Amino acid sequence: MRTQVAIIGGGPAGLLLAHILDRHGIDSVVLERQTRAYVLKRIRAGVLEAGTVELLREVGLGERLNREGHSHDGSAIAWAGRERFFIDTKKYTGKSMMAYGQTAITEDLYAARDAAGGQIVDEAADVQLHDLTSDRPCVTFDKDGASRRIDCDYVAGCDGFHGVSRQSTPDSMLRTFDKGYPFGWLGIMSETPPFPDLCYCYHQRGFALASMRSPMLSRYYIQCDLDTRLEDWPDERFWEEFKARCPQKMADAIVTGPSIEKSLAPLRSFVAEPMRYGRLFLAGDAAHIVPPTGAKGLNLAVSDVFYLSRALADVYRRGDPRHLDGYSDMALRRVWGAVRLSWWLTNLLHRFPGDTAFDQRMKESQLDYLASSEHAQASLAEQYVGIPFEE
Ligand code: APR
Ligand code: PHB
Repeated sequence: MRTQVAIIGGGPAGLLLAHILDRHGIDSVVLERQTRAYVLKRIRAGVLEAGTVELLREVGLGERLNREGHSHDGSAIAWAGRERFFIDTKKYTGKSMMAYGQTAITEDLYAARDAAGGQIVDEAADVQLHDLTSDRPCVTFDKDGASRRIDCDYVAGCDGFHGVSRQSTPDSMLRTFDKGYPFGWLGIMSETPPFPDLCYCYHQRGFALASMRSPMLSRYYIQCDLDTRLEDWPDERFWEEFKARCPQKMADAIVTGPSIEKSLAPLRSFVAEPMRYGRLFLAGDAAHIVPPTGAKGLNLAVSDVFYLSRALADVYRRGDPRHLDGYSDMALRRVWGAVRLSWWLTNLLHRFPGDTAFDQRMKESQLDYLASSEHAQASLAEQYVGIPFEE
């Protein structure tokens, strides 16, 4: 097989890249390790930055998003004993966020690729990247027991944190930055009306988050220990603990119900630099991981894909390599901004095992300052809604 861009990974980053490249008349093949059903079963984040919504609409993926997405003008922060306040992105930036699940985006992307006759190879095993520093890279993989090879011009590594792409860069050429957090998130999905606002709660017992997917689909999280076991958390216990971490008025407004999904996720900050090695370009979780506190993971995958697709279009249509040569630096400027915001919010809103009374006071003082200062809230709002893409 031959294609212009071989894309490793059929998650949001890989599929969106294939979709946008196709709109520029650039040919690609997506190699996905899992089955499509497996990919679509994943429950992930659900908050889109304004730039993400705008881009999805621009590339023809706005129809279901406009119909089923829940636009909101920011998120609330609450904490025990004090009035909650609202990170008003509309007031401070003029922009709104959108609650729309990553699963729905992935479904929309698969549908768009199918409609366009896009080439997606599911269950592609043992993908390997070759000759990345030559001008004739290629990718090999196994499918249905046969070894296959794709010759290409470029390889896009969109295969997530555990993928093969980042590992195909020699260690000597890669700088990595890694930070683990001493807790995780226990999340549930329930077919109940969500709490009206997306609300982050800080509490002595730990962090809690009320979010949503649709008028009858709610998403809730509580901070939990790293050794937490799902079997120790029946629904009743989850709801009781969640409500214990909210201000009473909020707890009274939570509509509980049976969970249709329950999962645990550890929190991590990770960045790999540079996001390029020869003809290989990394995008999405393959290059960076953020704790979900800032809702940046999916949005960073989208911004990487925006930059990379624009860069490849410049090369193929005008022979102009400037955006491609500048891809890693440009993408990383946005990545580090989102990593910093996610790290800062995670430190502010979670109880760390070693927190002293002084640490507690520092968090409360920071929250008091945020609640009292329009400048502080404007700064948080512009970062939360997403800094505009660079030209
Ligand atoms: N070969 C082929 N495909 C692979 C390989 C491999 N060696 N390794 C992983 N994959 C596939 C995975 O099965 C997955 O479908 O690559 C895809 C990567 O998708 P994601 O992990 O969703 O990463 P990305 O597309 O960058 O999207 C980032 O997903 O994990 C969330 O929080 C993250 O919201 C963010 C978003
Ligand atoms: C979600 O709805 O899954 C969600 C919302 C906000 C976050 C993280 C996750 O910060």
